[in-house]
Amino acid sequence: MASLLKLFISILATTLLATSQLANSGDPDILSDFILPPDLPEPDEHFFTFNGTRGIFDATSDSPDQQKTTKLTKITMEEFPALNGQGVSLAVLQLPVGCTYPPHSHPRAAEIILVVRGSITVGLVGSDDGDCLYTQTLEAGDMFVFPKGLVHFQQNAGEEDVIAVSAYGSANAGQVSIPDSVFGSGIEDGMLADAFRTNITVVQDIKAGFQ
Ligand SMILES: *[C@@H]1O[C@H](CO)[C@@H](O)[C@H](O)[C@H]1NC(C)=O
Ligand SMILES: *[C@@H]1O[C@H](CO)[C@@H](O)[C@H](O)[C@H]1NC(C)=O
Repeated sequence: MASLLKLFISILATTLLATSQLANSGDPDILSDFILPPDLPEPDEHFFTFNGTRGIFDATSDSPDQQKTTKLTKITMEEFPALNGQGVSLAVLQLPVGCTYPPHSHPRAAEIILVVRGSITVGLVGSDDGDCLYTQTLEAGDMFVFPKGLVHFQQNAGEEDVIAVSAYGSANAGQVSIPDSVFGSGIEDGMLADAFRTNITVVQDIKAGFQ
């Protein structure tokens, strides 16, 4: 009996340890100041500089080059190699009037979003059950945090085109789009029909929009 209890406690302890390590996991610490790409023997100031978002905040609703559809400009270690190993990245979201950024999650980082222009409604779904939705309308200057891995969305809530900047606690936070991963990934129609308590015709109608 005592040995069974010991076994139980050791399994519990191992599980708790594994879960807490998972919860604390982030980008790995590096043992140098920064990581150079293989094709760059020496860094200079340009290595630490990124100008790919220059001008992005200048566009106004009236300017001809203003985005008319939702656009997310990612600045991860792929676009800006100096971020590799630094555990941070950014994205700039341009959300014209009436546009939304559909439900998604970031598997590797929490996100903090700062509204620079306009007004957005954000939504965040807790992980315990699907009915735990937190929504908030944010004005320019407001921020909201989306905890790591949780499903969330953004929607233009006003009469003005939105620009918002998101920061992530990972150089490569990753993104899982809920509509694409459910309906655009090849999951079998019958399984989706069961999961969404509908029939295959409805599932195929929805899938048609993802081809
Ligand atoms: C932006 O950065 C790239 C890469 O470092 C550089 O080649 C380019 O000249 C820069 N553009 C401007 C306008 O400074
Ligand atoms: C599938 O479900 C839809 C919506 O409930 C219904 O209109 C349609 O007739 C159903 N089709 C079949 C083949 O059962």
